[in-house]
Amino acid sequence: MNKKQFYITTPIYYVNDTPHIGHAYTTIAADTLARYHRLLGDDVFFLTGTDEYGQKVAEASAKKGRTPQEHVDEMVVSFQDLWKRLNISNNKFVRTTNPDHHQGVQKALMTLWEKKEIYEDTYTGWYCLPDERFWTEKDLVDGKCPDCMRPVTPLSEKNYFFKMGQYQERLRNHLDEHPDFIEPASRRNEILGFLEKPLGDLCISRPKSRLAWGIPIPFDSDYVTYVWFDALINYISMRGYGTATLTAGHVAPGWPADIHLVGKDILTTHAVYWSTMLMALDLPLPQKLFAHGWWTVNGEKMSKSRGNVVNPHEVITEVGVEPFRYFLLREVPFGDDGNFSHDALTDRYNSDLANDLGNLVSRTLTLIEKFSGGNVIPNPKPQQDDYMPTFANHIFNPFSEAMNHLRFQIALGEIWKCVSQANAYIQQQAPWNLDKTQYENPRHRDQLENVLYTLAESLRIIALYLSPFMPETAAAIEKSLGLSDDYQKISFEKKQPWGWEGLPGKIISKCPALFPRLDKKKKMEPNKDVVLSPIPASSTPSITIEDFCKTELRVGLIKAAERIPKSSKLLKLQVDIGQEKPRQVVAGIAEKYEPESLIGKRIILVCNLVPVKLKGVLSEGMLLAAGADGVLELATFLQEIPPGTKIK
Ligand code: ME8
Ligand code: MG
Repeated sequence: MNKKQFYITTPIYYVNDTPHIGHAYTTIAADTLARYHRLLGDDVFFLTGTDEYGQKVAEASAKKGRTPQEHVDEMVVSFQDLWKRLNISNNKFVRTTNPDHHQGVQKALMTLWEKKEIYEDTYTGWYCLPDERFWTEKDLVDGKCPDCMRPVTPLSEKNYFFKMGQYQERLRNHLDEHPDFIEPASRRNEILGFLEKPLGDLCISRPKSRLAWGIPIPFDSDYVTYVWFDALINYISMRGYGTATLTAGHVAPGWPADIHLVGKDILTTHAVYWSTMLMALDLPLPQKLFAHGWWTVNGEKMSKSRGNVVNPHEVITEVGVEPFRYFLLREVPFGDDGNFSHDALTDRYNSDLANDLGNLVSRTLTLIEKFSGGNVIPNPKPQQDDYMPTFANHIFNPFSEAMNHLRFQIALGEIWKCVSQANAYIQQQAPWNLDKTQYENPRHRDQLENVLYTLAESLRIIALYLSPFMPETAAAIEKSLGLSDDYQKISFEKKQPWGWEGLPGKIISKCPALFPRLDKKKKMEPNKDVVLSPIPASSTPSITIEDFCKTELRVGLIKAAERIPKSSKLLKLQVDIGQEKPRQVVAGIAEKYEPESLIGKRIILVCNLVPVKLKGVLSEGMLLAAGADGVLELATFLQEIPPGTKIK
């Protein structure tokens, strides 16, 4: 039987900065869908990656005094590492600097050039630097970028243009004929509104004299490709466009995509640029564009200048990978905006995970351990009540329906209904009483065994549905129910209904508490212990100002950071102190900081320490940090003080 293909993508993220919870959100959602379709038996291709060209990246690398290539090679690692840590199951990771992708972009450009879909013109317009977008005079709102309301600069130059405008009618028709093409519906309406206004052509080139960091235009060596035209092509270049059999007009295996998952910020580029590009290339359009909402932090937009960007690594270190995945998809309806707060995260964790699910797992295993006689899951008895079976069988329809429309919150809600019902069932059946009365009333023994079986079977089904969202948790539950690797090979169809015949007789094993309760106050007062402990009377001898001045302290900018093999404490850092060569410093901060989270931090460096070797690695300085025993926090600056500045 031919497997159904399922091709899903995330945006390819800019490597001008390290990933934050917004990037993690889209990628976790895509991963959950990919895992769900694998569970259904589909042949899944899940693509994510990085967008490495363009002005933003060129600027970010220039700021750090590196070539763009050095910069992207280093920055891409922070994305790849985070996806590994988050258990992201992408089949491929695309980098736009990869030659396979270049070939796809150049083929698309050549095709459109030869078809006269691209022309040359001199253009006067307004350019929004942060958004990398040209706007015409009438697009501007109060003389500013209509998208981000930041100032624009005038520009006049020769460029190449894609005849996007001529596809306006066809695109509108496509939206009419395919009401599910853009979801949620509110976003679809936005695009319909956008298409009310005349659609212009798209400038797809940048003169090398202004921006050299891009894919060369094959028919004019003075130009590189506009980063959005380049980036969108990744969805086909990674399916062989430019390198393999996919030709114009021919539907190659693997195209079209089933879902492009994007944030609402980039829906227009996908719905309008990308759709019309595909029309011009005679390729089919993707099945669906889904634009999800925006995360704010404590009610504010996340931004570097506000200093409120949430580093996913810190959240994971605190609550774990799977609770983080769970929170993002459970807290707000997919499509709506959401607010990230530590309180909301701990509340969800404690109520849904520690209380509801965690308790159900540990109670079930404890009950089986105590009352089954030998840790064995009993056989169901004929008089089995149908309270839980009915419930568990009823998940299937609403769950599938929710997943098909990316309503993750509702899908999880269905699972949690079952969790709550199972917890209520324990109370109602009171197996500890059945245990006491089973000798007087033999039917109570049967009933007790039924309860134990029913709980085990409920957990099996809960784990099955949970597995796309929380794969490790599901695996831990399955393992504790004695379900082996062979179980994983059985089809979803067979495993999904109540009463899978392989369960009775399995030997359970208890697992450590899945979700130990979180102390809500802990994170809110991170330095409580320090504040409360009296400052010890100084036992160090006093020094004079001259003594102090012997220490050369300077502002250092961390350019690179990596772990030192076989050391859990040490990181190797390259610190810019305003000299030609960065200082290499070995610092004992690996337990507190992920290497990538340090890049770009400005720290205080003791520069005139006698160099030493730690674990065989040369260290030419020392960072200052708070904390006597463990590192509490690095001493840093609130403003961007130039590296090398002396500190007194
Ligand atoms: O736009 N809330 O890359 P990008 C939710 N390279 N999602 C967020 C978010 C937030 N606060 N912040 C970012 C680009 N995202 C282009 C894409 S695709 C061919 C090229 C997520 O690094 C969300 O998915 O700016 C958003 O669309 C994406 O990151 C933007 O990532
Ligand atoms: Mg962006």
